[in-house]
Amino acid sequence: MRAANQGIREPLTREYVGGNATVPPPPEEVIAGQAVYNRFMLAGYDVLVLGFHCRLVWRCAKRHMLDNYQRNIGARHAEFGTGTAYFLDRCGFPTATPELTLVDLNPTVLRVSAARAARYHPTVVQADVLQPLPFDGGRLQAGHHDSVGANFLLHCLPGTWAEKGVVFDNAAVALRPGGRIFGSTILSSGVRVNAPARRLMKVYNARGIFHNTDDDLAGLRWQLDQRFTDIQLAVRGCVALFEATKPAPTENQAG
Ligand SMILES: C[S@@+](CC[C@H](N)C(=O)[O-])C[C@H]1O[C@@H](n2cnc3c(N)ncnc32)[C@H](O)[C@@H]1O
Repeated sequence: MRAANQGIREPLTREYVGGNATVPPPPEEVIAGQAVYNRFMLAGYDVLVLGFHCRLVWRCAKRHMLDNYQRNIGARHAEFGTGTAYFLDRCGFPTATPELTLVDLNPTVLRVSAARAARYHPTVVQADVLQPLPFDGGRLQAGHHDSVGANFLLHCLPGTWAEKGVVFDNAAVALRPGGRIFGSTILSSGVRVNAPARRLMKVYNARGIFHNTDDDLAGLRWQLDQRFTDIQLAVRGCVALFEATKPAPTENQAG
């Protein structure tokens, strides 16, 4: 891991410092959305969540997400909400020496994902993706990344689509023009939600693990449309898989 991982503070406290600048501590419901990912949970995550739940409850086998990584991942990649780094471990990068940045609020997640992706010597950034990320403070470079991944992240984040859209703002700042944003999220409307999925979503929303009761397909499309071009949205079960491109600046923006 590169030196930036010295910034990991554990446990996450109310005096949380995100990146180089002191930022307000995340609200309780944001903390709850990531707190479930302790060592015990992460040890079973790939089998339970990416195996059993994806295929049998959400009805989207993990190979579709892996295909999404395979289509879009670039040599300079930032991953938002890293989990166990399963897909980063399994996908092929376009180079043997990618530049990989892992961004997550949870220090245990960062430790586990950085260990799994250690062969790529990742930089780790402990930060809340619902707040502006610490760009150009030495850890994350704006306009630098070929790709940003945000897989199974948005349904964990509290707020309306407009509030969750901060994640896409952060991705748009991180990406170079022509860079790719991609990922997936579990939706509760605008897609077919079967009875087991509806029940599990209800439990997870009640416990603060999910925040997707208002997440619909049209809202996701709207958020992507506001910032990106070349948008591809595919629905499998109640999972929306998305991929899109950061447009080149217009003449006015280029100055
Ligand atoms: C469901 S897991 C997804 C992990 C991985 N991307 C995957 O597809 O398997 C959600 C991840 O998002 C992180 N997370 C949740 N809320 C966050 C926030 N506000 N800021 C940054 N990371 C967050 C969690 O710590 C966890 O690593």
